[in-house]
Amino acid sequence: MNKAKFITFEGVDGAGKSTHLAWFADTLRQRGLEVLITREPGGTPLGERLREILLNQPMHAETEVLLMFAARLEHIEQVIRPALQRGTWVVSDRFSDASFAYQGGGRGVPLAKLELLERWVHEDLQPDLTLLFDIPVEIARQRLSNNITLDRFEQEQADFFERVRAAYHRRVQQNPQRYAVIDAAQSLEKVKYQLEEVVLSI
Ligand code: TMP
Repeated sequence: MNKAKFITFEGVDGAGKSTHLAWFADTLRQRGLEVLITREPGGTPLGERLREILLNQPMHAETEVLLMFAARLEHIEQVIRPALQRGTWVVSDRFSDASFAYQGGGRGVPLAKLELLERWVHEDLQPDLTLLFDIPVEIARQRLSNNITLDRFEQEQADFFERVRAAYHRRVQQNPQRYAVIDAAQSLEKVKYQLEEVVLSI
């Protein structure tokens, strides 16, 4: 049997990644695979409580990083590793790339601090594949404007999201074989078509 894979979905808020995640996981299930869907911050009872705080409570940028990685450690130990060990594939709506993009790119937290936490929390665990839903910030913001309420991140200005997007692009350049970049500005149908291509390549 092939080793269970760890797949993550990333992108700026409004890119539409969460809309496609369930369909993507179902497509894998149709191949007879066991698939667990999870998310960050969150994925465990403690992680979901931290999510509530992270999305709503103003805090220092480095407190934000530490809480993201605290939630992540719990998620990895309680959910991700046990699932992979029993042969279940894991599809996570965000993982550490989001910390490099949002806290590193968006908030300007030094890369060295993020790398230190990454080594501490999951030196030996990296996603096998990351789907980056890439979209011009203007279009993503238009999509967000349909939401009734916006969380602390969604309320950030366009320049914040430009830095987040640029940081994601740098991550892809550094390690292109791990990423599939999806053009998320396209129609739902066309995005789905791109995802089908990704599924075929797994
Ligand atoms: P979501 O809206 O995609 O569920 O993600 C929640 C927010 O958390 C999103 O605005 C991005 C942010 N986030 C970070 O800033 N750093 C992280 O490490 C993670 C996992 C999420």
